[in-house]
Amino acid sequence: MKMPTDALREEIRQSGAITFARFMELALYCPETGYYESQKDTVGRRGDFITSVSTGSLFGELLAFQFSEWLAELRIVNCELRIVEAGAHDGKLAADILNWLKTFRPELFSEIEYWILEPSANRQAWQRETLASFAPRVRWFSDFENLKLKTQNSKLHGVIFSNELLDAFPVHRLGWNAKEKTWFEWGITLAGEKFAWARLENSEFGIRNSELEAVLPDGYTIEISPAAESWWRAAAGILTRGKLLAIDYGFTSKEQFSPARTQGTLRAYHRHRVSDDLLANPGEQDLTAHVNFSAIQKAGEAAGLTTDSFCTQPQFLTRILQKGVAEKYFSGLDAKQVRQFQTLTHPEHLGRAFRVLAQSR
Ligand SMILES: C[S@@+](CC[C@H](N)C(=O)[O-])C[C@H]1O[C@@H](n2cnc3c(N)ncnc32)[C@H](O)[C@@H]1O
Repeated sequence: MKMPTDALREEIRQSGAITFARFMELALYCPETGYYESQKDTVGRRGDFITSVSTGSLFGELLAFQFSEWLAELRIVNCELRIVEAGAHDGKLAADILNWLKTFRPELFSEIEYWILEPSANRQAWQRETLASFAPRVRWFSDFENLKLKTQNSKLHGVIFSNELLDAFPVHRLGWNAKEKTWFEWGITLAGEKFAWARLENSEFGIRNSELEAVLPDGYTIEISPAAESWWRAAAGILTRGKLLAIDYGFTSKEQFSPARTQGTLRAYHRHRVSDDLLANPGEQDLTAHVNFSAIQKAGEAAGLTTDSFCTQPQFLTRILQKGVAEKYFSGLDAKQVRQFQTLTHPEHLGRAFRVLAQSR
């Protein structure tokens, strides 16, 4: 069993400097030992960072209500309905959603299956533990290909969604060379035993925007995530009818190129501390970058989806609560739930950076 540090050193020694995307891939997903493979309690107060899910069950309950509304519309077609979650982590969000559906929409609950896309066997095992009481209704697949194979079906009616999945895909890090007016890619090499940044020649990536290039300072750094875009394309490809939803922190392309943010959005998290030392202790800290929602939106539209809405998390959750029918379920929020709603929507907590993109076919 190789630790990420050893796997990285070995690969760099064998083939020379690697892209940051490869560094991030091994640091987070090295089989058995990567950050997301080995660390179960990364989310929540005792972990490295909090997510909307770890604030309490209200987030999942509001999503469940929204999904039930969407699924009720699809139900008319008389087909099998699915909720598909990717990046289900420890299964808590799935449990919150399924609990709500079972309690408040039992007839819909008995009709649907909840499918989880999870490449990691370790994570699947943790999720199975959390979701044991829903066992007959939940199925696992490692990815979309595996899903198509196992269900012998490339048609899917329902909702495909993720919370904080897109920010966890390995990103490429590009820098601007103002003198030569070209983009270069940041890679990782070894300086003795330590990991160090190195400029890679001949990167296959670049950004075309002549207006920007005239004003960008030398060394301006930005991330791109072809893996997140290609995941979204695959999700769009399998959705026959229904919704594709992403909740994550991110920007539009325009916002991403802020003159104030010259070093991109890549950050490392360990025990609730944010760090710019992205190369420290691979496998022991989370690495994440803001999502470029314009790129994701474009990928979905190119795959034939219609964009229903792109808004902030507070707008999305408030709209749910404002729906007439929602009153029946959420009118009497107790003090704990009110606190959860505030954490989810307040700009000083999760309300500022989080966005929601909803597309449909
Ligand atoms: C930041 S965590 C999000 C946790 C959870 N959704 C929440 O909101 O608390 C990102 C999760 O995405 C998972 N992940 C990464 N790539 C994935 C992929 N291709 N398919 C499914 N899950 C993936 C990681 O293993 C990790 O559990």
